[in-house]
Amino acid sequence: MPGHKLGKGMPSEFLESLHLLDVTEIPGTDNLHFPQGAIKEAQELAAKAFGAEYTFFLVNGSTCGIHAMIMTACGPGDRLIVARDCHKSVIGGMMLAGAEPVYICPEFDGRFNISTAVTEDEIERVLKENPDAKGVLITRPNYHGVCADIQRIAHLVHSCGKILMVDEAHGAHFRFNKKLPVCAMDSGADICVQSAHKTLPAFTQSAYLHVKSSKIDIDRLKMNLSLLQTTSPSYILMSSLDIARAIMENAGDKLLEKLLGLVDCFEKSLSGIEGYFLLNKSLLGAFHHDRTRLVINVANTGLTGFEAEKLLRREFNTQVEMSDLCNIVCIATIADSAESFDRLLYGLGEIASKFKQQSKLTDIYIGEPDIPPRKIELKDVSYIKAELVMLERATGRVSLQMVTPYPPGIPVLCPGEVISGDAVEYIRSIRAMGGNVLGLGEKGEIQVAV
Ligand SMILES: Cc1ncc(COP(=O)(O)O)c(C=O)c1O
Repeated sequence: MPGHKLGKGMPSEFLESLHLLDVTEIPGTDNLHFPQGAIKEAQELAAKAFGAEYTFFLVNGSTCGIHAMIMTACGPGDRLIVARDCHKSVIGGMMLAGAEPVYICPEFDGRFNISTAVTEDEIERVLKENPDAKGVLITRPNYHGVCADIQRIAHLVHSCGKILMVDEAHGAHFRFNKKLPVCAMDSGADICVQSAHKTLPAFTQSAYLHVKSSKIDIDRLKMNLSLLQTTSPSYILMSSLDIARAIMENAGDKLLEKLLGLVDCFEKSLSGIEGYFLLNKSLLGAFHHDRTRLVINVANTGLTGFEAEKLLRREFNTQVEMSDLCNIVCIATIADSAESFDRLLYGLGEIASKFKQQSKLTDIYIGEPDIPPRKIELKDVSYIKAELVMLERATGRVSLQMVTPYPPGIPVLCPGEVISGDAVEYIRSIRAMGGNVLGLGEKGEIQVAV
């Protein structure tokens, strides 16, 4: 990220004229909060290209789109069924709406030590237990490119008369090539967000909110977006959303086809290097996988993903998107060339031969802890008096913080939840292995209820 890869995927005329695009609401430039001209036209073109009825440009990432969609679908006290592998903006959206989550757990893959996706059966079970829930919100794809069977889920959710919301932050490119997983708007989802900046040639913070449903109150959605977005939206970001749409609409299929060819070659070459294997559809059973998301399991080199990331950066001048215990993750986009893949492959080859460790990483796998019980409702959390305690002494206390190993940004603790000994141990282990945990202070302190 960002998907334009230092401008390589963007037209040079655009990059050279950025200063000319940094304007404000003057005659002819339209107004994001009341679009009637160029912005209206650009959003309509985007809706057509992305298969939506309505598209809204977002200048504060998918984050503000997720806030707006939850605030539109849910009011105070409403319950929303949410996959626990959600981004922290989903928790934030529920805090803003005054809604309460009913969590469902995604499946887990022990080989890659990652959560995969939620199943239709699990959603059905939770829907039956919570007939009053307003809807279901799933993250699809996840950070590792794994996709739940959304068409079946959409059918199920609609047969219960509920709304299906999709955090498709990592899937803005899906619609433009048939070999990629089907996108939310083509699968029956009511509303979804896409971070254009993650996988398309668009600037950081630029994102789309798409709607295709009579169940979404468009006026309420517009009002919420207006509340959440700045009154000085960047015309550079909005232009980049329009340009990314134009590139994908005109040439996306061809460019993605070329990219998938590069991924194929990379996969073949990687299989010739001992120590690595790539996540792909054949390993995921019923789930789908975005092949442009390279999830490279490094466990058989004896290194953690964190260590492999550091080595790639320090020794081979290659920055990956993220790492976790067992894997490194790279986002390949239409802006990548064969050279990007070759450099990564070279670095991985050298690491396998020069830095391989004796011990097998499989000895130190740690599983994610169970979802903790909730003591304080999300809507009340901001009013509770807080104090800081060291994480090691926080067992049994109520967290007021969202504690998220980042990336992938999946909360281990959400505000209002009781901190278990397992959660403390999990967070401590992630930190000890070089992972980054957001929500803790510099010395490892956590904000808890007094
Ligand atoms: C799954 C998921 N959803 C939402 C977001 C928020 O997206 P943005 O950075 O565009 O606000 C992220 C960011 O990493 C994410 O990974």
